[in-house]
Amino acid sequence: MSNILPVLVLLGSAVYTCSLANVHPDFGLNVKQLIGKYGFPFENHIVTTEDGYILQLHRIPYGRKKKNYHKRAPVLIVPGGFESSADWVNTGENSLGFILADQGYDVWLANYRGSRWSRRHVKLNPDVDKKEFWDWTFHEIGLYDLPAFIDYILHATKQEKLFYIGHSQATVNFCILNSEKPEYNKKFRLMVGLAPVAYFSNAKMPIVYFLAAYKNKIRAFVDRYLHYEILPHSPLLATVAQTFCNDNSPFQDVCAFIFYTGAGYSNQFNKSMIPVFLSNAPAGLSYKYMQHVTQVYLSGKLPMYNYGEEENLRKYGQPNPPEYNLTKITAPVALYYGANDLFCVPEDVDKTASMMQNVVVNKRMPGFNHIDILSGIDVVDLVFNDILKLMGQY
Ligand SMILES: *[C@@H]1O[C@H](CO)[C@@H](O)[C@H](O)[C@H]1NC(C)=O
Ligand SMILES: *[C@@H]1O[C@H](CO)[C@@H](O)[C@H](O)[C@H]1NC(C)=O
Repeated sequence: MSNILPVLVLLGSAVYTCSLANVHPDFGLNVKQLIGKYGFPFENHIVTTEDGYILQLHRIPYGRKKKNYHKRAPVLIVPGGFESSADWVNTGENSLGFILADQGYDVWLANYRGSRWSRRHVKLNPDVDKKEFWDWTFHEIGLYDLPAFIDYILHATKQEKLFYIGHSQATVNFCILNSEKPEYNKKFRLMVGLAPVAYFSNAKMPIVYFLAAYKNKIRAFVDRYLHYEILPHSPLLATVAQTFCNDNSPFQDVCAFIFYTGAGYSNQFNKSMIPVFLSNAPAGLSYKYMQHVTQVYLSGKLPMYNYGEEENLRKYGQPNPPEYNLTKITAPVALYYGANDLFCVPEDVDKTASMMQNVVVNKRMPGFNHIDILSGIDVVDLVFNDILKLMGQY
């Protein structure tokens, strides 16, 4: 045993040293640095929700050519679970945030509660008042964060409507907002859901099986260690990713395999980008959010959070949690997802689409998985150009 340690240290140092010879130029940059590096203006806006969370909205007000941003249509871009504003500007010239800004849109990148740049509250401290600060799921993101972002942007830009583009959970957030507060429907020119998740009982993602299979054990662990925050941003993870997943590393395929296990196999996935992706993601979520995910998955429906019969009666006036009523969604919606996506399968996406009143696109794109529908090698040609054309009509 004692002979192995020096060998491991030596091997580790050798791998780490080699990794320094192959660093992606965007490795380690945060959202402001990425936006600045590619020549775009960056603005930081602070928004406070009705329930006290203090959130950052990152704005790219105009593109690299024209600067008259007063008449431009605003686009609110909402990240998926564990993601942040950085995930829309971290694929260089192929980043959707940059493409939209250069096309003349006024781009607003959201960071929902608890994630790296929105880990603040008017009263609660995320590291001290853990149980209270992390007491939310995608329900509160939809019901409180989204309207705070939307009202702020419409007020700041003096517009009546905006475009909404979201990844993964941003679809369920949108559904919750518009079914619980239907008056918001008229504030959307068009909603674009990439890898849209609302109903997902047929998901094939291993993490969802795992959460469902071990839900009682996980709960006991969380209660015992007060571990209410899940996978926050970690600079250490970025270093590990750079060390083991760079282009010269013999372990790069292992890194890619981990991504495929989570998101689905894909030949659209660019392995060279792993250290850049992990420079900012994961950005953190609450344990309660994961519990709600498990409940939806196991229920076959799209119910609100289940507190148990007694508490449900008190909160909802009925023993079982009510379901969201997606037929109240009248805003125009376009859905795009990859054929290799383990989370979005046709049965579920079609069910979501069939409930909404005004779905204008429901497209399954060959080759893409849950993640590279944002960042895949051919995503601009195969997905983004289609979205730009569609946005032009609204
Ligand atoms: C993958 O990303 C690297 C680093 O950004 C880039 O040089 C390369 O061209 C990309 N590969 C493809 C096939 O687009
Ligand atoms: C859902 O909303 C629609 C439209 O407002 C309404 O007609 C229907 O009764 C609602 N369904 C339920 C189960 O509440």
